[in-house]
Amino acid sequence: MRGLAWTRTLRGRVLGAVALSVLCQVGAIAFEVAQFRTIGDSVDTVNEAWLPLARLTARMEGQLDRPRSPEPHLDDSIDDARAAVLRGLQLAGDGEEAAALRAADAQLDGIARAATAPVADEDAARRTLREEVLQLGALAEARVSALSKRTAHAQQEAVRVSLLLAAFSVPLGAALLWLAGTALRPVRTLTEQVRRLEAGERPGAVNVGGDDEIGGLARAFEAMVRAVDERDRNLQAVTLQLRRVLDSLFSAVAVVEAGRVLVANPAADSLWGLREGSTLPEALTTLHEGRQERALGARTEDIFVAPFGANGRILVGEDVTERLRDRDRLLRSERLALVGQLLAQVTHEVRNPLNAMSLHAELLADELAGTEQQALLGTVVNEIRRLEAVTERYLDLARRRAPELAPEDPVALARSVVALEDERLRRLGVEVYVQAEPCGTAEIDGNLLRRALLNLVRNAAEAGAHRVAVGVVRAGPDLVITVADDGPGMESATAARIFEPFFSTKARGTGLGLAVTRQGIEDVGGTVTMESAPGRGTTFTIRLPAAR
Ligand SMILES: Nc1ncnc2c1ncn2[C@@H]1O[C@H](COP(=O)(O)OP(=O)(O)O)[C@@H](O)[C@H]1O
Ligand SMILES: [Mg+2]
Repeated sequence: MRGLAWTRTLRGRVLGAVALSVLCQVGAIAFEVAQFRTIGDSVDTVNEAWLPLARLTARMEGQLDRPRSPEPHLDDSIDDARAAVLRGLQLAGDGEEAAALRAADAQLDGIARAATAPVADEDAARRTLREEVLQLGALAEARVSALSKRTAHAQQEAVRVSLLLAAFSVPLGAALLWLAGTALRPVRTLTEQVRRLEAGERPGAVNVGGDDEIGGLARAFEAMVRAVDERDRNLQAVTLQLRRVLDSLFSAVAVVEAGRVLVANPAADSLWGLREGSTLPEALTTLHEGRQERALGARTEDIFVAPFGANGRILVGEDVTERLRDRDRLLRSERLALVGQLLAQVTHEVRNPLNAMSLHAELLADELAGTEQQALLGTVVNEIRRLEAVTERYLDLARRRAPELAPEDPVALARSVVALEDERLRRLGVEVYVQAEPCGTAEIDGNLLRRALLNLVRNAAEAGAHRVAVGVVRAGPDLVITVADDGPGMESATAARIFEPFFSTKARGTGLGLAVTRQGIEDVGGTVTMESAPGRGTTFTIRLPAAR
């Protein structure tokens, strides 16, 4: 097979076929040229030598009947005949034709000799001469006929070869077409597969064997398809990983382009209701680039906007309501702790001198029994007692206790607080009552709740309310306790500050009641809220987690 290495390449095969075809054509043309040359030579010899010779022998034959010697006409004919033979020899060169011409020349010599030889018998001499002339004529005719035959034969040969070539070129052409077709068929298959690849489909096997250029191209194509596959797989894996990362983020992440959501993770769905393919809600289109806080009702969102591509944006957001609330709570609790420490210190410093003053004032009052000064001293003692009570209250407020949860009936608790204050408040013209259905026991910090209720009821009375309603109700897992009054209510500026430590609108208020109440309730996981409007009363709501 080594010798046919050229057949392995398409170029070799095409060149081989073309060379074969050219070779055939050239061979046929050369053959025909040779044939035409033979024909041309024969026709020339016939025209220049044999035909004139035949004509001259015929003329000689006629001249023989005239008086024999001198015979200038016959001599002329012989000379013409010699000239014809000479021309013929010049044309024929060497070979069969030259030999025949030389034979004719010899015959002419014979005729010339016979014509000039002295004769005894004129008739015999004329017969011999005629014979010679006839022989020459016969030779000329025989050559003309032979050459005509040869010409005809050469002509036939040329036609035959032409026909043969024509007959051969049909299968040769067909073979060339077939060769081109089979060689180029894989190109069509390859083109189809390339189109599929272009359209994003997975191309099938090309199935082109062979060592030629197309086989090589097919193998290169298949290698390329494998490489593209591999790259696709890697891309898919990376995309999947990215998707997982995106989906596991707490922050909402969305990519938006021309008002359409391209990418949105589950957090973006729950925070903004964004789904991939949906349109961006109006509220999110007004965001500026960079970081911003956005308040939505009771919620606060922290949003970061960055440009994405030519005309897109990437939104990253988080609901920071809880975080802000926790931060606020921590700040408050820290401030309150500091206040508590200070109070404890001051109260401690004040309590001992107060005790001493109270003791000595009482001793002095005993000494002055029955005098006018005793009444004056009584006022001093009373004021000292009031101061002691205030310091006690401060201390009580400043002391933060660990929550002590125990099962207790909240309705009974509310009733006991109301009962405790009822008589005192009734004297001040305030009616306090509990509005509640029995709701069993709950895990609550009873002391904390008692102090909180006491604070709220006293505040209501101090604000000038006539009726104070304490409500206890269960709401799911929570216990909801309300203290509603028909007092003057609050301006919004006041309402905004009531939970601040030391905020008070009363001449002798500490401004600590609500601050401490809220701190205590939040310490056990509850909330205290307030609703109020000027002239419409005030309602405080305590919400406590309270498993039954
Ligand atoms: N029920 C209420 N009606 C109107 N205002 C109230 C009521 N409860 C509290 N307040 C306002 O809140 C302020 C703070 O109350 P609080 O913290 O208990 O301190 P204090 O009672 O010592 O003033 C009060 O001074 C008052 O202005
Ligand atoms: Mg108070």
